[in-house]
Amino acid sequence: MLKIAVLVSGSGSNLQSIIDSIEAEKLKCTIEMVISDREGTFGIERAKQKGIKTYVLDKKIYGREISKNILSLTENKVDLIVLAGFLSILDSELITSFKNKIINIHPSLIPSFCGPGMYGIKVHEKAIDYGVRFSGCTVHFVDEGTDTGAIISQRIVPVYQDDTADTLQKRVLKEEHEILPEVINLIAEGRVKVEERKITIV
Ligand code: GRF
Repeated sequence: MLKIAVLVSGSGSNLQSIIDSIEAEKLKCTIEMVISDREGTFGIERAKQKGIKTYVLDKKIYGREISKNILSLTENKVDLIVLAGFLSILDSELITSFKNKIINIHPSLIPSFCGPGMYGIKVHEKAIDYGVRFSGCTVHFVDEGTDTGAIISQRIVPVYQDDTADTLQKRVLKEEHEILPEVINLIAEGRVKVEERKITIV
């Protein structure tokens, strides 16, 4: 069975969607650990409530050493690292050790509204300001860039004229909660083939 680590920095609603999918037997994997890069996140609470092992590697204390610590916690213990709203940048040693074994969820249709500094509500504010008619979310492999890795799956939502960043965020989040467990399941079933940037679902 696929073993995963889930990394969070915030409310952990995406973590919850993974937990719920496992409990509903729609997703076959085990969450070996949840790691947060800050104290007091609700994501860590959600994990504790389910008896999942948790680690807090406070960014303020660990700084650039955070990746090294993540690597020593996860190496040979998990098959896949899932970034579910994790805000720290990972270094190349970790990314190389887990090549094509780290995925991230981003709340826009990459390559729009992504890259350094684009996270949280800002992504949706930019989408509204730009006047796009559609937005969505993307699950991609993590490489050395920010939001630049090969795209595994995307979901689209409409953007309405009276939308605010908040209403758009809610609509996108609903899709995130379906697409992330779905992609993990595809990986668990060995159905995601990677050839450079080209991803094939078999
Ligand atoms: C999500 O919108 C995700 O796409 C982004 O950060 C947010 C995390 O939300 N990377 P949550 O902590 O899972 O509720």
